[in-house]
Amino acid sequence: MKVIRTVSELTDQLGRLREKGQTIGLVPTMGALHAGHLSLMTRARAENDVVVASVFVNPTQFNNPDDLRTYPRTEEADCRLLEQAGVDFAFIPTVEEIYPEPDTRVFDLGPVAEVMEGAMRPGHFNGVAQIVSKLFAWTRPTRAYFGEKDFQQIAVIRRMASLEGFDIDIVSCPIKREDDGLALSSRNTRLTPQQRAIAPAIHRILTESLGWAKSMTVDEVKKRVTEEIDAVDGLRTEYYEIVDHLTMQPVSDWSATELPVGCITVYCGDVRLIDNIKYTNR
Ligand code: PAF
Repeated sequence: MKVIRTVSELTDQLGRLREKGQTIGLVPTMGALHAGHLSLMTRARAENDVVVASVFVNPTQFNNPDDLRTYPRTEEADCRLLEQAGVDFAFIPTVEEIYPEPDTRVFDLGPVAEVMEGAMRPGHFNGVAQIVSKLFAWTRPTRAYFGEKDFQQIAVIRRMASLEGFDIDIVSCPIKREDDGLALSSRNTRLTPQQRAIAPAIHRILTESLGWAKSMTVDEVKKRVTEEIDAVDGLRTEYYEIVDHLTMQPVSDWSATELPVGCITVYCGDVRLIDNIKYTNR
């Protein structure tokens, strides 16, 4: 595996391979890699000639300076994992390399970016669009891989790609979970042992809600999920929305969408955990 630190080296190396007709799979990450990321690498490895992973904690998508400061940074361990996963190029730039001058672009991301994470974290999705659009432009991948834990992010990236005219297959990959159901996240390392013990209640309650959805309305399910999670000492729901899987707009009726997806954010102490569930059984 080759570690690349500059944009010019990245575009040179990939340009040569693209000229030879090689397909390129891109896996953008912010590092602190876990098995969820590795499943994206494995899929990219299976579907492309060349695999590029980026490791960059993107400051423009953090609306909370403490979150940016405390975000785990584990470059050595990340490189070992990327190598084991068969990645060809690890792009690990500095902030100055990515943003030699401030990125002032404002993307017209529309309604997909206005709800849920977009409402709670102003500017977050614009920052995601800034970095991902740069990575797409420099890498020009055939396919790019994103995890469904950040379900809304995938919709936002599809919107950005369509606005910018990127002809890239955006591949969404299923959530990876611990054995007890907790969705894998780089933020899980910040949980204390006590918090780690209660956090799986999020997925447990969401899974139970699949049964409730057979007899309850959307609003009733939202209320019950929120109440049950908030009843766990140490968990606090920030929002629970049931949305259309493509538009991210909240639905008030199960039949108003082909696939309702429940998207949740829960504070476990000061750690913000997100998860989601598909109501496919209705
Ligand atoms: O999902 C993430 O880790 C980040 O938002 C991404 C897509 C790598 C952009 O910084």
